Amino acid sequence: MRKLTGAVLATLLSSTLVSAGPVDDELVINDETEIVTRTAAPAHVADVLDEVMSGWLFRGTETRAMEMDDFDNPGMIFVEQAEEQWNTADGSEGKSCADCHGASTEMAGVRPVYPKYNEEAGEVRTLEMQVNDCRENRMGAEKWKYTGGDMVNMTALLASVSRGMPVDIAIDGPAQSTWEQGKDLYYTRTGLLELSCANCHEDNYGNMIRADHLSQGQINGFPTYRLKNTKLNAVHSRFKGCVRDTRAETFSPGSPEFVALELYVGSRGNGLSVEGPSVRN
Ligand code: HEC
Ligand code: HEC
Repeated sequence: MRKLTGAVLATLLSSTLVSAGPVDDELVINDETEIVTRTAAPAHVADVLDEVMSGWLFRGTETRAMEMDDFDNPGMIFVEQAEEQWNTADGSEGKSCADCHGASTEMAGVRPVYPKYNEEAGEVRTLEMQVNDCRENRMGAEKWKYTGGDMVNMTALLASVSRGMPVDIAIDGPAQSTWEQGKDLYYTRTGLLELSCANCHEDNYGNMIRADHLSQGQINGFPTYRLKNTKLNAVHSRFKGCVRDTRAETFSPGSPEFVALELYVGSRGNGLSVEGPSVRN
């Protein structure tokens, strides 16, 4: 085991199970799309991690297998639903996403660079924020709920057309202050348990916590289809769950804090492949 951070965490971490590192396995989807699930850590985390690893490497054999073929990946049903939505007109302008953007495959290369600074708006935007901006300001349609079904389906479609491409989130220039804010949040101990994201996902990945195999908490696989709740889960829903597990008050999905945290956590996975929609337990 790597260093333990306090008595509470020590009791959460299973003492009976030996540290079980990531599996030595390769992910190729549909026998054609090679997914980079482990690679050298990007420079800005190289002082704390040698390698960055997808959560896929920490899941069981059957869960991993579900992601190797789109017919076995339950998340792909929602991608199909989003494809229909992509081509359907909505809002006062009578436009569909396709009317302006062409085929959904034209969006290949977009997922890997988000969250991203938007010049005109002067803010860092997640994909969800950008989609809602298009709906509201270009289509005259109602915003979708940040972690609601329509939105998470659409982000699954946008991820799926970029599968295999390396995550490449910019952290300098105008994004830097938001990135610093996200980094602070990542290392801040919260809640009754006084645990930070880093205490679990940096100091203890590979170890068992209760019955769960701790990963690095990467987000290259989002949205994820979870066997636990049998639906697609957005990044901010996962953040919310993890913060709650420390018995802390949490930020809401779409809040500036979670946007900053997403920018930071996403950048820790620079170099891993976009893998969404992934399958997790
Ligand atoms: C009326 C035209 C129009 C429609 C309809 C439209 N968009 Fe857009 N969209 C744009 C424009 C223009 C941009 C570039 C805006 C910018 O960079 O600020 C954009 C940007 C985007 C981006 C970011 C692309 C990038 O390279 O960063 C995404 C993702 C996106 N739209 C998704 C959608 C989705 C999903 C829909 C349907 C729900 C949609 N858009 C509907 C015009 C439209
Ligand atoms: C008490 C330990 C603990 C803390 C603290 C914690 N998490 Fe987690 N987290 C888990 C467990 C357990 C899982 C499920 C197994 C896994 O994928 O690591 C998980 C899963 C995740 C995942 C899903 C990874 C994937 O591949 O699907 C992300 C993302 C994540 N956590 C982010 C965070 C962030 C960001 C924070 C800080 C706000 C945080 N976690 C704090 C225990 C923790």
